[in-house]
Amino acid sequence: MTAACFAALGHHVTVRDIDAERIAALNDGQSPIYEPGLAELLEKHADRLTYTLSMPRLLTAARIVFVAVGTPPTYSGDADLSSVVAVVDELSAVGPASDHVIVMKSTVPVGTGQRIASALRSRGLTNVSYVSNPEFLREGTAIGDFMDPDRVVIGDFESSAGDQVGALYRPFDCPVVRTTVPSAEMIKYASNAFLATKISFVNEIANVCEEVGADIDVVARGMGLDPRIGSSFLRAGIGYGGSCFPKDVAALKQLAGNSGYHFQLLNAVIEVNELQKRRVITKLKKHLGPLDGKSIALLGLTFKPGTSDMREAASLVLAARLIAEGAQVRAYDPVVGPRAIEPVRGVSVCPSPEATIEDADAAVLVTEWPELVHLDWPRLRPLMRQAVIVDGRNALSPQLMAQAGYVYEGIGRIAEMPADAAENRAAAAAGVEPAT
Ligand code: UDX
Repeated sequence: MTAACFAALGHHVTVRDIDAERIAALNDGQSPIYEPGLAELLEKHADRLTYTLSMPRLLTAARIVFVAVGTPPTYSGDADLSSVVAVVDELSAVGPASDHVIVMKSTVPVGTGQRIASALRSRGLTNVSYVSNPEFLREGTAIGDFMDPDRVVIGDFESSAGDQVGALYRPFDCPVVRTTVPSAEMIKYASNAFLATKISFVNEIANVCEEVGADIDVVARGMGLDPRIGSSFLRAGIGYGGSCFPKDVAALKQLAGNSGYHFQLLNAVIEVNELQKRRVITKLKKHLGPLDGKSIALLGLTFKPGTSDMREAASLVLAARLIAEGAQVRAYDPVVGPRAIEPVRGVSVCPSPEATIEDADAAVLVTEWPELVHLDWPRLRPLMRQAVIVDGRNALSPQLMAQAGYVYEGIGRIAEMPADAAENRAAAAAGVEPAT
């Protein structure tokens, strides 16, 4: 992603990976991940992109070296830094004359930069600089986020190194936060943890709405119009997933704990998110009774639309819970196939939404892929044995679903509401002001 975008900005970029298949695929013009627009960008700027397995080749070709390796969670919830360490070890082979700038894009615990910088010094690499440059890209809109950033964060030990990285972002008209390395590292964790907190907060409000007869769409809209709160990340649903929020929230909690601070709020954020996925089971049981032998359709498998990423996807937990309850689970996703749900045994993946919901007792909208949201729901209704719909993303219209004969369950939504309130909700969903 970063390579393709910097190439698009006119730079010559060398990409080095240890995975020979991935490098071969890139050399063949294939995008290594499903990300809208990435394949086109790689193709368009192929003349400025070089792919290699060789670190010496990379170090000869480039002076500014971005490290963008995975930092998945370990069993303790800490970030696994083994890939970062391996890359930095290899970079260290560069020799004492080197004046490379190592730029950390991977999300690393606060303090990592300081440790890497002192390791570089102790190896005699006194002219190699270290810069922290966290990224805030969302999967599915990563190119747009890169090309039109809200902010660029640069943490450095010497401003000259930060200046060189800052120059790469000069085409963008956005605030640049220049700071120390530990603060830059913390900005990334704090941002993700705050967004995750916002989601768990709105999910809890939605759960309370269900108890007291309020409607989360209107409540979120009413809250979000306060600029201090803001309307984004107030979409209630079955919780957050993906490669960042779950791991970064756990890592920040762990980081705080390791330094002697008990980050109580994050414990709640994590627990709420875990329980939120399981509420679907309660909703299904409310309508179907025991789920043993019931046929349940899962629509959408990826953690969100616009990606093939299954990391921490709610579908995995849901499918496993349903199977544990004795349900027969069928699933469909527009992008990923049976391999994606392999970690959960016993799920049959169908070739179409129709085949998935045929004879089902209930369907759960797990991922709000547009093609699922905009299915011809009235036409599909007769295919189902019982027409219970649990809308895990509050993406369908309760009114239209009820008109089509479905029993609709959203998350914190009132299925039937007065016309003016319904209009407000539609406006909330569309992000526009209703006519007065
Ligand atoms: C996130 C951050 O947004 C991004 O800045 C960071 O660099 C990486 O992590 P991403 O994981 O791609 O990006 O997805 P995002 O769109 O933020 O959604 C994360 C999860 O939260 C998804 O599961 C989504 O369904 C959920 N979500 C998001 C909600 O449940 N409600 C919301 O209002 C927003």
